[in-house]
This record gives sequence, structure tokens and C-alpha cells, in this order.
Amino acid sequence: MRINPSILSADFVNMERDLARIDRADFVHVDVMDNHFVPNLTFGPQMVQRVQATSPVPLDVHLMIDDPERWAPGYAELGAASVTFHAEASSAPVALARRLREIGARAGVAVKPGTPVEWLFDELDAFDQILVMTVEPGFGGQSFLPETMPKLRALSAEARRRGSSVWLQVDGGISESTIAQAAEAGADTFVAGSAVFGADDPDAAIAALRELAHRHRH
Ligand code: DX5
Ligand code: ZN
Repeated sequence: MRINPSILSADFVNMERDLARIDRADFVHVDVMDNHFVPNLTFGPQMVQRVQATSPVPLDVHLMIDDPERWAPGYAELGAASVTFHAEASSAPVALARRLREIGARAGVAVKPGTPVEWLFDELDAFDQILVMTVEPGFGGQSFLPETMPKLRALSAEARRRGSSVWLQVDGGISESTIAQAAEAGADTFVAGSAVFGADDPDAAIAALRELAHRHRH
């Protein structure tokens, strides 16, 4: 069970301080938004390069951008441990995942709440991680959408049936009151922005989330 705090909820002018606060997380989740694929803008490779140089834990980059074929490999090249792009934006997800792996990153594919996942059943081994968005991508602090859980349960059952070791990630509205249902539905990797950086003690918040995820493990 992995807890990946999202720096979307960190203080952008105190990033080094905030990264030091999550040194017991599994990965740091880095939300790249381009104001086209989603109606919000964050940062690009130059900033992610600095986070990579500063972070005490490996990077889990979530690309909410158009044309990932053009941009995703650069994030793998700068050393991100994991690079996840959106299926809705990609013209050839399996081929892009192969490229990311060749560069040395874990390859992830993300789906928005309304995007089906059945097409992934035959392709589970092409990816290291599947991200089931539990809010519409674009902003932190939104409410968890429980109607996304059937997709997670379906992916989890399919992964088990096929003996796949793909990680199942959830992102959006994950907190101490929602993490149990995501864990029970089969998630093993949990992104949390406001629940970690909005807490007085981010380290304690990570520990509490991890404990709940373990207790409700599928
Ligand atoms: C939303 C981002 C999330 C965001 C989650 O589009 O992908 O990673 O930071 O924030 P919370 O945990 O506050 O919903
Ligand atoms: Zn994200």
C-alpha cells in the first residue's frame, strides 16, 4: 500500500520545505497541467527537474496534458520514477508506455471518471500502473466520486485473474474518510493532496492513511 502526497496542495514558494515534510511517503505525486487537457496550469519540465533534484522520495509524475507522445518521454529522461499520461489524450497508449519503460520509468495510464476501462483488460502488462481518477482532473480539494469504484473493482478482479502485478492508483478526494472504500475496491496506490498538505502534521497524516489502507486492503 503506497501513499503518494500531491504537491499540488504544497506551498509552491516553499517547495523544498514541503518536500522535506513528506520524506516518509512512498512517492511524491507531481501534477503537470497544460491548461488544454484540463482547465488549469501548473508547471513543466523545468520545475519537475528541480523537484527531482530536491525530493527525498521518487517522483510519480501525473501528466494532465495534450499530446503526451511529444512530452512524456522528457519526464522519464529527467529521472522520474513513474510517468503517467492520460488515455484520453494519447493516440497510442501501449506504444507510449513501451517508450517510457525503455527510458527506465514505470509507465502509467490514467482514465478520467467517465472513461471506460474494459479496453485495458488485455493490455494490463503493457503498464506498470493504472490510475483511476476519483475526481475530474484539474484541481485539488474536490470530493471523491464513489461511482468510479466499479471500474477499480473490475480492474482489480481482472489483474488477479491474469496474475498481473500492475499497480492500481486512485487520485482525487482521498482522505481518512474515503481511503477505506478505495482500498476495498482494490486500489494499492493512493494520491492525497489536501489530506496531507492541509494537515498540521503531514507525516502523521501519511501514517494514518497508510494504516487505514492496510486495514481495508482488498
Ligand atoms: C487533480 C490532481 C490530484 C490532486 C488531488 O487533478 O490530479 O493529484 O492533487 O488533490 P486532493 O487529494 O486534494 O483531491
Ligand atoms: Zn494527480
